[in-house]
Amino acid sequence: MTEALYGDDGFYLAAGTPARHFRTAAHASPLWGRAIGVLAARIDSALREPADFTIVDVGAGGGELLAQLATSAPARWRLIGVDHAPRPAALPSRVEWIAKPPRAVRGVLLACELLDVVPVDVVELTDAGPRLVAVARDGRESLAGAPEPDDLAWLDQWWPLADVGDRAEIGTSRDRVWRDLCGCVTAGVAVAIDYASAPSRDVAGTLTGYRDGRQVLPVPDGSCDLTAHVRIDSLATAGDVTLSQRDGLRMLGTAARPPSYGGDPTAYVAELSAAGEAAELLDPNGLGGFTWLLHPQDVNVDDVLNVDWS
Ligand SMILES: C[S@@+](CC[C@H](N)C(=O)[O-])C[C@H]1O[C@@H](n2cnc3c(N)ncnc32)[C@H](O)[C@@H]1O
Repeated sequence: MTEALYGDDGFYLAAGTPARHFRTAAHASPLWGRAIGVLAARIDSALREPADFTIVDVGAGGGELLAQLATSAPARWRLIGVDHAPRPAALPSRVEWIAKPPRAVRGVLLACELLDVVPVDVVELTDAGPRLVAVARDGRESLAGAPEPDDLAWLDQWWPLADVGDRAEIGTSRDRVWRDLCGCVTAGVAVAIDYASAPSRDVAGTLTGYRDGRQVLPVPDGSCDLTAHVRIDSLATAGDVTLSQRDGLRMLGTAARPPSYGGDPTAYVAELSAAGEAAELLDPNGLGGFTWLLHPQDVNVDDVLNVDWS
């Protein structure tokens, strides 16, 4: 999976930017970027507007979010994209682009649809216990050895397999990546946004492929994206806040109210179109059903989201 996604001929280095192959919130509407900008502004204010306030977008893909923020964010903010893939050609010059996350970030570190493409091992329950699933480049599957002890412990805790034939994706690699990213934030909030796996629902696992806008068999030959939902609960630590993207966006001012006609047809069409985009972002069965995990460092997330949980 690592070679197929990030090797020299891997999908993310050779197949063009993600927007060519699948649709994320960043591609769906600028309303999403606007909401992330509002979140960042509230965190900036909670940190008392430090001179080095920074937004780091890890797994920035085509740089859509940062390109949008470059036109609206205060000049004081640093904007940094991190990706294995090269810098997108049309990215505004104020956006920095690097291959590894910076240390000591004061601000927001965002990982949107990053963890679902961090390579995972797939296991299947057999009569002899969980066995790794090996997949050849042509897609043929076979069962291999038992997982390592720490992976078995992870399965016991986060994705217990009930019946022979059930499958799971082992999340230890994602837990490690997320822990490292959280460690980069000295003050502010690390935010992971991804579709969460649910072991009781996802008994066949969630690994799948995408190419040119279509869902395809997850064949590890570099021709398609390979993605699996994220076991968000195993990432969370004490003090973190988890909520749906729908709730998060609504707390940041995104609303899908149909406009009333005020006599200006052009304005009406624009408002109608924005309401349609907001509805797509908020759809609980689509992008709104993604999960936000917020890991604060010296910031009160409830204040940032303006939320009273009582
Ligand atoms: C599914 S795309 C999401 C792109 C963008 N965040 C969005 O929401 O449209 C995932 C991106 O993460 C990048 N990526 C995956 N693992 C990475 C890592 N460890 N460090 C930097 N970038 C990574 C991939 O190259 C790819 O561009």
